[in-house]
Amino acid sequence: MKKLDDFRLMFGKRELVPIMVGGMGVDISTSALALEIARLGGIGHISDAMVKTITDRRFNTNYVKEKLQIYKFNVCNMDKSAVHFRLNELAEATKLHVGKTMEAVRGAGMVFINCMEKLTMNAPKETLAVRLRSALDAGIDGITLAAGLHLSSFSLIEDHPRFRDAKLGIIVSSVRALQLFIRKNARTNRLPDYVVVEGPLAGGHLGFGMDWAKFDLATIVGEVLTWLKSEKLDIPVIPAGGIFTGSDAVRFMEQGAAGVQVATRFTVADECGLPDKVKQEYFRASEEDVEVNETSPTGYPMRMLKSSPSIGAGTRPNCEAYGYLLDATGHCAYIKAYNKVVEENPGAKKVEVFDKTCLCTHMRNFDCWTCGQYVYRLKDTTVKAADGSYMQLSAQHVFEDYQFSTDNRIALPAFAA
Ligand SMILES: Cc1cc2nc3c(=O)[nH]c(=O)nc-3n(C[C@H](O)[C@H](O)[C@H](O)COP(=O)(O)O)c2cc1C
Repeated sequence: MKKLDDFRLMFGKRELVPIMVGGMGVDISTSALALEIARLGGIGHISDAMVKTITDRRFNTNYVKEKLQIYKFNVCNMDKSAVHFRLNELAEATKLHVGKTMEAVRGAGMVFINCMEKLTMNAPKETLAVRLRSALDAGIDGITLAAGLHLSSFSLIEDHPRFRDAKLGIIVSSVRALQLFIRKNARTNRLPDYVVVEGPLAGGHLGFGMDWAKFDLATIVGEVLTWLKSEKLDIPVIPAGGIFTGSDAVRFMEQGAAGVQVATRFTVADECGLPDKVKQEYFRASEEDVEVNETSPTGYPMRMLKSSPSIGAGTRPNCEAYGYLLDATGHCAYIKAYNKVVEENPGAKKVEVFDKTCLCTHMRNFDCWTCGQYVYRLKDTTVKAADGSYMQLSAQHVFEDYQFSTDNRIALPAFAA
C-alpha cells in the first residue's frame, strides 16, 4: 500500500514532500505554520490578506489606526470612494510580513504567499501590482494567485527581475479557467509553474456557484490533466478540497497529480492563527453545522460554520480602517446590504444584516469560521480530554500523518495527560 511519502513534488531540481498547506487569510495560515511546513520539507503558505492588520499585530506597526485617523471624516458617509490605500505603505507592510518570514525559513521546503485578486482595495490593478512586486522583492519563494481569474496578473510583474525565477501558480476550479489564464497571460511568454485545482469541498471562497455539490474534484482534476497532456504542457497539478487523509492524497497522486493542497486539518494545529476557543468550535462541529452561503460580499459562495458570529452581525462598514473589498469605484456589497437594513429600521441602535457580512471586520476578528466540508471529521483526528475539550495538534503531527499514513488511517496524537 502506497503512502504520500513515496512521491515527490519536483520544481526543477528541487525535491519536496508533495504537501502544500494552502493560504488561509487573515493570518490563519500564519508565518509560524508556513515555516514549520517548510522545515518539514513541504510548501507552506502565508497570505497577504489584510497585511496591514497582520503587521500591526506582529510588528507593532500602526497602519490601521493611522488609516482610520486619515479617513475618520468619512465614517458616516456610505460613499467610500474617498478611501484609498497608500501604495508605499502597502509595499512596506508586505515587505515586512514576507521579509521577516523568509529570514526565518529553515529546512528543505518552501514558503509561498496566497494573493487573492478579489481584494480589490479601491484600486484593483495598482494594489495587486504592489502586493505581488513587494512579495517578490522580499524574497518569497512563490506566489499562488487566488480568488479570481488573474487574466492580467503576470503582466503586472513581467518586468520584475524575479518574474522567471520565483514559482508562480494559480488556483482554478475548472479546466476552462485554466485555459483562459494561460491564453490571456501567454503574451508574457511564461507558463504557471503549478496549478492548484480546487474542488467544491474546500474552505474559504468557492470557485463554484451555489450548485457546488454537482461538481467533483477528481473529475475536474482528470479534465485538467487530459487537457494539459493534449496541449503537451508539463505543469504540475495540485488538487485541493476535501483531501483529509494520506490515502485520499495517494489516490490523487496515482491519478497523475504532482502534490496536494490541504488546509482544514491544519486549522486545529498549534501554529494556526485561529484563537484556541475557535479551534474547539472546529473540533466540535458536526456535519449539520456546516453550510455554504452567500454572505461574502465578494460574490463567491463561502463555506463556514453556521454558528459563525459574522452571520447576521450588523457591523457598521469599517472601510475607513480596512476597505480591502472596495471595488474600483469604492463599492462593497456589504455597504449596500447594511444600508438597506438601516433604512428599513429607522432609529434602531443595532441592526442585524443577514444578506452579506463585513468580511474585513469579521476575518480580522476570527469571527467568520470558514472551513472545508470535512471540518466535522477533525474530532476523529485527536483525543478528547476529561473536561470535554479536544487536544490541539502540532503541525508536524498533522503533516506527518498525511505523509506516512496508509489504509485511510489517521494517527492520533499521544495524549499528554
Ligand atoms: C480557514 C480557511 C481559510 C482559507 N482562506 C483562504 C484564502 O484566504 N485564500 C485562498 O485562496 N484559499 C483559502 N482557503 C482554501 C485553502 O487554501 C485550501 O485550498 C482548501 O481549504 C483545501 O481544502 P481542505 O480545507 O478541505 O483541505 C481557506 C481554507 C480554510 C479552511
